[in-house]
Amino acid sequence: MRLHLRTDYWDDRLARAEFQAFIRRIHHLDFMLWQDMGCWDPLYRPFSYFAGDRLVASTCLYSMDMTIQGERRRVAQISGVGTLPEFRRRGLNRRLTEAALEWARPDHDFVYLFADEEAFPFYAATGFRPVHEQFARFRAPAVRPRPARQPVDPADPGQLARLRRMAERRAPVSRDLGVLNVELLLFHALYPLRELLSFVPELEVYVAFARDETGLRLFDVIGEHVPAFEEIWPFLSEGRAETVDFQFMPDRMDLDGLEWLPLEGNGTHLMGEFPLESGPFVFPFTAHA
Ligand SMILES: CC(C)(COP(=O)(O)OP(=O)(O)OC[C@H]1O[C@@H](n2cnc3c(N)ncnc32)[C@H](O)[C@@H]1OP(=O)(O)O)[C@@H](O)C(=O)NCCC(=O)NCCS
Repeated sequence: MRLHLRTDYWDDRLARAEFQAFIRRIHHLDFMLWQDMGCWDPLYRPFSYFAGDRLVASTCLYSMDMTIQGERRRVAQISGVGTLPEFRRRGLNRRLTEAALEWARPDHDFVYLFADEEAFPFYAATGFRPVHEQFARFRAPAVRPRPARQPVDPADPGQLARLRRMAERRAPVSRDLGVLNVELLLFHALYPLRELLSFVPELEVYVAFARDETGLRLFDVIGEHVPAFEEIWPFLSEGRAETVDFQFMPDRMDLDGLEWLPLEGNGTHLMGEFPLESGPFVFPFTAHA
């Protein structure tokens, strides 16, 4: 059977629909809301083998705008990787990965990805190395709560447009390792963070966090100015002391006494020179494609 390597085909409506069906089948993910809300991102670039109209193997490369140690850098993330079961172990995804890496090489500093455990041997075979992320934990004091947060519904077009305007002007949540991609942030707002976003008018920031009996996980703070933790904590606090786990590097939070703990389950892999590898680091939650 003849296979055709195709890339950059989002303008072909049928091929894009075939890609979406493929992602639903392999990863059980539905991108329709992201598309229907006008967030589909050409920086998310497919490399796929088609047999006629049928997509049989695919990988995507997301060009990421990040701040790394205070400098704006362009890096790449691999995601949306899969081969139909009956086409596996024929070298198809290895060749697609090579094509994607060759495309990225001239203007991306390094490549990273988050892998399912069963795919670790594939990524080892294609030249990626596993790395260990750590997250920062802070024991936040009891403070008097300031209950002025407003709920946000990102699936409301007007609210999504306001969030987009802020995302376009945002300061990266971290100077050490911050992400700036607007459409990717909106993806997170529409899917994993959909119920977790609120707006703090006094600080003019959106916050995304979740709380359970063990404490609070802070996913992102989106604003033109990133407030220090001390400023933002009263708007998140329920009045008692609590642990706060940061899902991003908290260098802008102005905190002492952070504890760093292993972050399990991300399956993070890298290729190329990554400047933060010698110390504790975590990719921002909203940098996952
Ligand atoms: C992982 C996956 C994309 C690999 O696709 P593929 O087209 O079969 O990969 P290739 O044939 O190009 O494999 C290249 C090399 O990777 C390694 N490899 C691939 N699949 C492997 C497996 N299941 N076990 C061990 N090694 C594997 C081998 O070294 C292989 O070379 P070889 O066949 O000459 O020994 C495919 O198995 C898949 O779709 N899995 C389910 C979805 C998934 O896990 N996606 C990744 C999520 S992060």
